[in-house]
Amino acid sequence: MAELTKTISDLTTPVVLLDRAKTIANIRSMQDHCNANGVGLWPHMKTHKMVEMAKLQLAAGAQGLTCAKVGEAEAMLPSGVRRIFIAHSLVDVRVAPRLTKLADQLDELRVAATSVAQAEALERVAMATGRVLKVMLALDTGLHREGVRDIESAKGVAAICARCPQLELAGIYTHEGQLYGAKPEEQSERTAAVLQRMIEVRDAIDTSLPLWPGCSVTAPLMAATGKVQVVRPGAYMFGDMALAVTSQVMAPIDVAIHVLVTVVDRPEPGLALIDAGSKVFSSDKTALGVHAIAVDGRDIQAVRLNEEHGYLRGSDVDTLKVGDRLQLMPAHVCTVINLTNQVTVVEGATIVDRWRVDARGRVD
Ligand SMILES: Cc1ncc(COP(=O)(O)O)c(C=O)c1O
Repeated sequence: MAELTKTISDLTTPVVLLDRAKTIANIRSMQDHCNANGVGLWPHMKTHKMVEMAKLQLAAGAQGLTCAKVGEAEAMLPSGVRRIFIAHSLVDVRVAPRLTKLADQLDELRVAATSVAQAEALERVAMATGRVLKVMLALDTGLHREGVRDIESAKGVAAICARCPQLELAGIYTHEGQLYGAKPEEQSERTAAVLQRMIEVRDAIDTSLPLWPGCSVTAPLMAATGKVQVVRPGAYMFGDMALAVTSQVMAPIDVAIHVLVTVVDRPEPGLALIDAGSKVFSSDKTALGVHAIAVDGRDIQAVRLNEEHGYLRGSDVDTLKVGDRLQLMPAHVCTVINLTNQVTVVEGATIVDRWRVDARGRVD
């Protein structure tokens, strides 16, 4: 722990604050819920990209980690992780040597088969690794991104796995990210529909295949059904506006990542400019066009961003003066972490550590 200032009032801004106690409580609560339902937890590390965070999740009982990219998986090895699922469409044989090296350092490496066309390419990748790879069949359950669209394609992917000695079909997964758009009162029904679709497709191929859905909005609901074997949420241990305000699956007080910013100008009534823009928050916003909100309850929102400026509006914005500092809850936490080299770890206002974002930029 090098050269720590003592409290957040010593910090210059903008700075990303990670509340350690809240983070640990969020990890514990998801893990306890999974344990109580006999469901495995393979958190998606895309949200945190930090070895320190992976260590906390694994120590709490996570069975493995989900990654999007091979580079993210490589960056997580120092956490001591033994099982990794790369939930992305691998197609390039040039990645095979890296996969082989990864597999050598793990007890289990799972890869994704996301369509018939991609599975044909994956087969060539697997042959080049010289390893038997466990394959998770991706099913589109409404996001309309990767994943087979129908039972015929699911059977096509299963047939490719059956003919290739180096691909072993080992489960079905989905990312039901469309649930971020569900109203709180619709979540149970829409989660049940996702699960029903997974069961339907699974039963058409092999009734013994485990089901691995993955989304922080649905993870507690999915785990409680007793019909899935693993859940793979990502953002749950930090939270953001998407989880605490829009979908309301967590309390705003439990959100563990805040961005501390400074008001740098008040060019006109009703507008405050802050020292953090899209290079801190990314361009992500809620469906209502909000990039971040004040966490102290005042009606203050970042409604527009340039690279180095945020535009604060809201009925309480005229309570702000130049030099004031405030903490904001971001609309989408994953992209905020991805833009910073390190987070400042706090307990209340006390700085207790700084953690590197190890997989920052590992989009490879
Ligand atoms: C394939 C996949 N699995 C799991 C997740 C985790 O979702 P969430 O961040 O909603 O928990 C994501 C998020 O984008 C994803 O793309």
